[in-house]
Amino acid sequence: MSFGTQDPHDGRETAGRLRAISDELSDRFYERADVVRTLVVTLLAGQHSLVLGPPGTAKSEPARELTGRVEGAAYWEILLSKFTAPTRMFGPIDVAALARGEYRQVYEGRATTAHVAFIDEIFK
Ligand SMILES: Nc1ncnc2c1ncn2[C@@H]1O[C@H](COP(=O)(O)OP(=O)(O)OP(=O)(O)O)[C@@H](O)[C@H]1O
Ligand SMILES: [Mg+2]
Repeated sequence: MSFGTQDPHDGRETAGRLRAISDELSDRFYERADVVRTLVVTLLAGQHSLVLGPPGTAKSEPARELTGRVEGAAYWEILLSKFTAPTRMFGPIDVAALARGEYRQVYEGRATTAHVAFIDEIFK
């Protein structure tokens, strides 16, 4: 699946692919068609989704299955624990720059530069 085209024909093709992915995931995860649809809508709108529920009820897997299929997107994932430092998500201090008297963070390869970020166990 890929986004970002101007051609209306390609737009219809993208819509068709999104429907195919939604149908596939809705078949694979029982009673999760509404969750899958909501995830697709928020993904298209460029907004965040928060999936809440009891353990083992298909929250992480549908999120990963959907977001991992956006071709060309920088995908980033983290499993949080109560010991995860915020710098793991947003990038550490640039120590080399600090030695030169500059205070900077290394954003590359973190949530900061991702198109799609999947943050698991966020309340930890
Ligand atoms: N409704 C469902 N339909 C199909 N498979 C399911 C369903 N609910 C759970 N599973 C399966 O159970 C396993 C656990 O799912 P998942 O990792 O998405 O759970 P979770 O909600 O993120 O759990 P936790 O809160 O413990 O992180 C996966 O293999 C998933 O495919
Ligand atoms: Mg989970």
